[in-house]
Amino acid sequence: MRSALGIAGLGVATVGYAALIERTHWTLRTATLPVLPRGSPSLRVLHVSDLHMMPNQQSKQRWVAELAELRPDLVVNTGDNLAHPKGVPGVLRALEPLLELPGLFVFGSNDYYGPTPKNPLKYLRQRRDKWVKGVPLPWRDLRAALLERGWLDGTHQRLRLEVAGQSVAVAGVDDPHIGRDRYQTIAGPIAEQVTLKLGLTHSPEPRVLDRFAADGYDLIMAGHTHGGQLRVPCYGALVTNCGLDRSRARGASRWGAHTWLHVSAGLGTSPYAPIRFACPPEASLLTLVPRPVGPGAARTGQARTTSPAAADVS
Ligand SMILES: [Fe+2]
Repeated sequence: MRSALGIAGLGVATVGYAALIERTHWTLRTATLPVLPRGSPSLRVLHVSDLHMMPNQQSKQRWVAELAELRPDLVVNTGDNLAHPKGVPGVLRALEPLLELPGLFVFGSNDYYGPTPKNPLKYLRQRRDKWVKGVPLPWRDLRAALLERGWLDGTHQRLRLEVAGQSVAVAGVDDPHIGRDRYQTIAGPIAEQVTLKLGLTHSPEPRVLDRFAADGYDLIMAGHTHGGQLRVPCYGALVTNCGLDRSRARGASRWGAHTWLHVSAGLGTSPYAPIRFACPPEASLLTLVPRPVGPGAARTGQARTTSPAAADVS
């Protein structure tokens, strides 16, 4: 009896920690990725994803806004910004200082539709139930505000931009998680000489990653997985909520001989599953450097964490 009570108490304490402390333990992860041609100056790219913003999440808004102090050369947002029909002002408060910088985005399912309750007992099932649409979200308002400030929508577009004096080719797809990807609209290798070929997708579905890799992209950036959201120490993510293998649920990895993949564990959760464990909410500062003569390896680290005094309410 006593041991059963002890186990129950430990479970309650763990859920309490995951919901009240770790979920707002904002963390900056860093990585150095060898994806540029030899001789290129390095580029610093800030990767934000999966804000899942509720209107009252002020500590998240403040922390994301402070990331502008890093002065990255480029900001990339890989979607799932919203968790509420009134979430757009909070997203814009969070991104406001970053909108002064060059930026790119693609959207995810949680820009288009609100979250829906899910059965937590089905969390570990790799095969997901049929996706259920939530309420429509004001993604058009968010998109218009981002475009007005000069950010570029990479969805089914092949774009060129100058970043810190270097030419970058970008293409992105709409969210494969809900079958909105149309890779054929951006398919084909990039003929021009550019410093970086960058692919964007919200969900890192292997069928999309394979296409980017076959077209010679240097780096693919994605979100969606939440890093597993609940991780087991020394084991890692239990699920990725997509076709990606568990080992790539967050951070940098190779995808084929030439291409690197970076998956952000994101900054939020569904309001119906407001917990994170061994997987703090994160943004990532990527330093892109020239490829070495040999195979090369990414270096990762964790540069800054903060635990705001006032935790979010939801
Ligand atoms: Fe998400």
